[in-house]
Amino acid sequence: MNDRRVPLVDLAWQHTQVDQDVRRGWDEMLADTSFILGPPVGEFESGFAEFSGVRHCIGVGSGTDALEIAIRALGVGPGDDVILPANTFIATALAVTRAGATPVLVDCSPDTYLIDVEAIEAAITERTRAIIPVHLYGQMAPAREIRDAFPDIWVVEDAAQSQGARRLGESSGSIGHLGATSFYPGKNIGAYGDAGAVLTNDDRLAEQARKLRNWGSEVKYHHPEKGFNSRLDTVQAVVLSAKLRRLAAWNELRSEAARLYGELLADLPVQLPVVADGNDHVWHLFVTRVPERERVLGELNANGVGAGIHYPTPIHLHGAYSDLGHGPGSFPNSEQLSQSALSLPIYPGITPEDQEYVADCLKKALR
Ligand SMILES: Cc1ncc(COP(=O)(O)O)c(C=O)c1O
Repeated sequence: MNDRRVPLVDLAWQHTQVDQDVRRGWDEMLADTSFILGPPVGEFESGFAEFSGVRHCIGVGSGTDALEIAIRALGVGPGDDVILPANTFIATALAVTRAGATPVLVDCSPDTYLIDVEAIEAAITERTRAIIPVHLYGQMAPAREIRDAFPDIWVVEDAAQSQGARRLGESSGSIGHLGATSFYPGKNIGAYGDAGAVLTNDDRLAEQARKLRNWGSEVKYHHPEKGFNSRLDTVQAVVLSAKLRRLAAWNELRSEAARLYGELLADLPVQLPVVADGNDHVWHLFVTRVPERERVLGELNANGVGAGIHYPTPIHLHGAYSDLGHGPGSFPNSEQLSQSALSLPIYPGITPEDQEYVADCLKKALR
């Protein structure tokens, strides 16, 4: 029995890097008690907008809220259809439903696992008002191709897993009419709690999103429309600014780790991640496919390797979306992926020795 542990995600190393900056920022915040929309929020919003190559970043309470606010800022709601991939985290679909619109699912590509452009084309009707390309696992979906192919339909990028990723020279969150991102703690840039942001180059949509996050109000006690309370907390903005300064370097560490996995796993019967042409991947997750996934996952976990599954159930097979009426077999690529996907530990701070241990355990499990 050995006691080696390699978790799926380890945030401890990151914290050691930002500890001093966070404490200093929090001390300042405590001194001026600027808990709601204090100066650190605007500072982070400017910094992240610049990092993402957009004019506006609006900090909100979570990635799910960011998606909902983006959809509502476009005026998309009851009676409208929004196309999204069946292979994504549930929040993409929930944001559509919460805005009152109807999710229309399409399958993913069998190699990159990203939304399939041809499948979008087949799903479009006169009710389609928006498309959500989801930049899964750290690489961007073909958002530019989608925006150009369907010029009359709104595009909202789900950029929760892709901070710092680029496609054909364009940044994650800068291509759609709006982008939505998450700063859930395990994301490439993560807060110390829930947080998210809406990104856009459009001044009017930015103003709309800013209003929606603040009870539909620009002027205190004046509410021209129904918004909700979802602002980025000052406490989180301090953490995020400290991490933003290091994000590019941390993404590079993720890339190095991905390269090493590529070498270590080259001779195993494992489907390695495929990077689409033109993509700079930021390796939020390292998603492989393996035979006998449940057994292999069990052996890895038993040996202290925190491998995971992204995702075990496509959207249409969740109870929450049984009302869409899609049974098994509706989206075969997404379903096959859900049965064979295996995510290996990856994070800034993982050591080559950790990765060798993961590869050794995987090799034994596949024997
Ligand atoms: C693809 C995707 N979309 C949306 C979200 C929702 O973000 P949050 O957890 O911040 O609400 C997440 C992460 O949780 C995600 O991975």
